[in-house]
Amino acid sequence: MGDIMPNQVPSIRLVAPLAAFAAMVLAACGDDSSATLTSPPVPDAALIAQGKEIFRHDTFGDESQWTDTLRMHEVISAAVDPVTALSVGLKVDAEALPPAVVQGIEDGSISLTSPDTTVALLKLGAVVGVEGKVENVNGKDTLTRVGITCALCHSTVDDSFAPGIGKRLDGWPNRSLNPGAIIALSPALSVAQKAVYNSWGPGKYDPRFNFDGVNGPQVISPAYGLAGIHRITATGDGEDIAYWNRYVGVTQMGGHGTFVEPRTGVSVVNGPDDLISSKLPALQAYQLTLEAPPPPAGSFDLAAAARGQVLFAGVARCATCHSGPEFTDANLRLHSPDEVASEPEPNGVPSYASRSATKMYRTAPLKGVWQHPPYFHNGSAATLDAVVRAYNTKHALGLSDGDMADLVQYLKSL
Ligand code: HEC
Ligand code: HEC
Repeated sequence: MGDIMPNQVPSIRLVAPLAAFAAMVLAACGDDSSATLTSPPVPDAALIAQGKEIFRHDTFGDESQWTDTLRMHEVISAAVDPVTALSVGLKVDAEALPPAVVQGIEDGSISLTSPDTTVALLKLGAVVGVEGKVENVNGKDTLTRVGITCALCHSTVDDSFAPGIGKRLDGWPNRSLNPGAIIALSPALSVAQKAVYNSWGPGKYDPRFNFDGVNGPQVISPAYGLAGIHRITATGDGEDIAYWNRYVGVTQMGGHGTFVEPRTGVSVVNGPDDLISSKLPALQAYQLTLEAPPPPAGSFDLAAAARGQVLFAGVARCATCHSGPEFTDANLRLHSPDEVASEPEPNGVPSYASRSATKMYRTAPLKGVWQHPPYFHNGSAATLDAVVRAYNTKHALGLSDGDMADLVQYLKSL
């Protein structure tokens, strides 16, 4: 991508003094520092592998919430056939399917309109982000426990077998998943609660509704491209990923453990045991390996993107906040709600920042931004074009239609 970023490549004239400066620094620091400069820390492969398993398959004991309280195992067994499951955005891991099952789906001998097939897929561990315990009850495979994992919202599949069925893409937000519609199937909820959950729509979830009762769903974030960023979530609530992993694991998924946050007054203790604390280091190590996906070949116009880059760093003032290798000033500062192009919130809902620990917003990192529309914490911009137009208005940039089109091409190249 160097060819479309001319002003990030130092010119020949700059290279020589830089090299001389580097040599001086190295000489001043002695041999030890040159060794650390050339050998980055070796990632712990075993820890990362463990984290991947946790990300995909660990429920932290949240069956207490999804089975004992919400009774989702009853709903799934009675009414959720694979066609219904795929229609609410659940994904099937094709690599977990044995050849006979693949054959049966292809030749139609396995019914995709029977809930028994969903139970069979759960038994195979093939439903992304849903873990089921299937036991033989009176000669019939019966779903007795069900729980969810991080992969439910933060993984999708590449659709290589069929729409919704393919290889896992960990860290990609599942923007077709409708978590609200799934939760609303629970027989344990009131009509009023179901109405709120059903109002969220695909790709959105409100991770604070159960505390403050405000109905302001957030787009499900990518869980990739977070290495080196020390403000986590749209509001920068935590210094590292593990902070939010504990929050979601305990307070949203219903996993066993504790979460305490004096800034918002949230304090939750689930279960008699702690099934999450010991797993946080591995989970975080795995997430830090998930890189933002590069733009597909031919997905943007190179010349327009080069012009857009000049605008981004210049008159459009984007780089005053979207700075550095991750395109964010998150490690330096957060921004007040009046600085963002995404407020006021839709439908007169209170500011999401006001519901958070920091009351501020983090500049969103932009690598892989082509991959995950809609944009902004509340999804108020459907496309990158809408994002740029929102800034043009809110920040009174005076950009022409051509300038805005060039900026969009640049964003698509990141
Ligand atoms: C029901 C859906 C859902 C599940 C399950 C879920 N998350 Fe999230 N996640 C979200 C939403 C929505 C946000 C956006 C919250 C915000 O920015 O305030 C988010 C944000 C995040 C972020 C912040 C990303 C950033 O840009 O800073 C991380 C990291 C994350 N989740 C990891 C996890 C992990 C790890 C798990 C499992 C322990 C998990 N999530 C489970 C919905 C979910
Ligand atoms: C004052 C600081 C600031 C400036 C200037 C700024 N941004 Fe942002 N940007 C942010 C913040 C903060 C967010 C997160 C807002 C939210 O989530 O609602 C964001 C979000 C975005 C997003 C959405 C990313 C996502 O994951 O949904 C895009 C795209 C973006 N900005 C592009 C731009 C472009 C292009 C410009 C220049 C025209 C620009 N920004 C100028 C601070 C800024």
